[in-house]
Amino acid sequence: MTTLFVSLFVFLLLMELLVAGILLARRFLRPRGPFRLTINDAREVILDESDTLMNHLYAQGVFIPSSCGGRGTCGLCKVRVLSPRQPCTPVEEDHLSPAQRAAGDRLACQVKVQSDLVIRVPDEILDAREREATVVSNTLVAPGITHLVLSVPDDFTFHAGQYVQLRIPDPEGAEGVFRAYSIASDPAVRGTLELAVKLVPGGLGSPWLHARRPGDVLAFTGPYGEWRLDPDPAVGLLLVGGGVGLTPLRAILHEAAARCPDKPVRFYFGARTGDDLFWRDTLDALAARLPAGGFTFALSNEPTNSPWTGPRGFVHEAVDAAWEPDGPVQVFLCGPPPMIDALRPILDDRGVDPASVFTDAF
Ligand SMILES: Cc1cc2nc3c(=O)[nH]c(=O)nc-3n(C[C@H](O)[C@H](O)[C@H](O)COP(=O)(O)OP(=O)(O)OC[C@H]3O[C@@H](n4cnc5c(N)ncnc54)[C@H](O)[C@@H]3O)c2cc1C
Ligand code: FES
Repeated sequence: MTTLFVSLFVFLLLMELLVAGILLARRFLRPRGPFRLTINDAREVILDESDTLMNHLYAQGVFIPSSCGGRGTCGLCKVRVLSPRQPCTPVEEDHLSPAQRAAGDRLACQVKVQSDLVIRVPDEILDAREREATVVSNTLVAPGITHLVLSVPDDFTFHAGQYVQLRIPDPEGAEGVFRAYSIASDPAVRGTLELAVKLVPGGLGSPWLHARRPGDVLAFTGPYGEWRLDPDPAVGLLLVGGGVGLTPLRAILHEAAARCPDKPVRFYFGARTGDDLFWRDTLDALAARLPAGGFTFALSNEPTNSPWTGPRGFVHEAVDAAWEPDGPVQVFLCGPPPMIDALRPILDDRGVDPASVFTDAF
């Protein structure tokens, strides 16, 4: 029995020595600053500690987009690392095309700063700053979807199809986390932002946003995103949205109605039932301002005994059944990933140039 206790004691002692050795090695072998971080040849900062590039950028007030809190799942935090060039991690491979990887693109949340670093971010991100927005109204417009109207500073401008990031309180982090929300409102209207937020039960951001009330103040950054409407009336427009993916498409419809009302705009919106078709009045008003186009609403789960006379089934099926390009076309798709996956072969089949197809999946 004594031998057993001695062996156990020796084993535990060795384990503790091993753990202490690892901790000491990590403390002394981990690269420590100072490191020089150069951003766009325009800003140079000295960093004392090794940390992720994303954390360093936020600490410097460079608000790169991020919707997953640095977990490597949203793929939004892309930056170009000019030097030193390092291979990306397996987590990053899912979010970066071979061409992006060859150009040095990385996910900032996956890059550890352990030496001097030279990076490039889009200029608009370098200019983005955190601003305040006040809740004007917050109204449920469909089951689980709230229409959030915010009052924002008049000098905040954006392009149709862009998104903002809202700072969400996080019980585990004093700084909070950011979540991305597409702007649904008319870019020509200054001082107001309209968003639609779908409730994700158990989520950090969406339940908090659903609970905001008029007068509440939120912090946001942006705008972000590369979507740009081609105003040339000779270029057709196909918009396909599913559920809350309607948000950026509504902004594009506003911009098309204002800038190129003669453009042939084909708009498809898919929802489960008639109750899930939100902003119908606004969409009908936009349809009237775009007479060369056509608006189609498809319901996948509408009860068979309802008076619904429109297409039944998934929205990609409605596109497949009725849409043909008649000339060059720009395509914007926004909705759940299966909707976008189902639409790609349909567009390929119709000979649509992949370079003119823009997607956002959420
Ligand atoms: C560019 C961009 C634009 C976006 N625009 C909008 C928008 O206009 N409106 C909008 O509502 N959302 C939008 N999103 C999604 C939004 O940023 C959040 O991801 C979403 O609101 C969930 O955040 P959360 O904090 O509530 O959940 P989290 O705390 O991030 O997630 C909680 C749990 O739910 C899971 N989960 C996360 N999202 C979903 C989901 N959609 N369905 C099911 N499970 C999920 C997660 O895996 C996790 O397990 C956009 C995302 C991106 C990248
Ligand atoms: S923050 Fe989401 S992948 Fe980096």
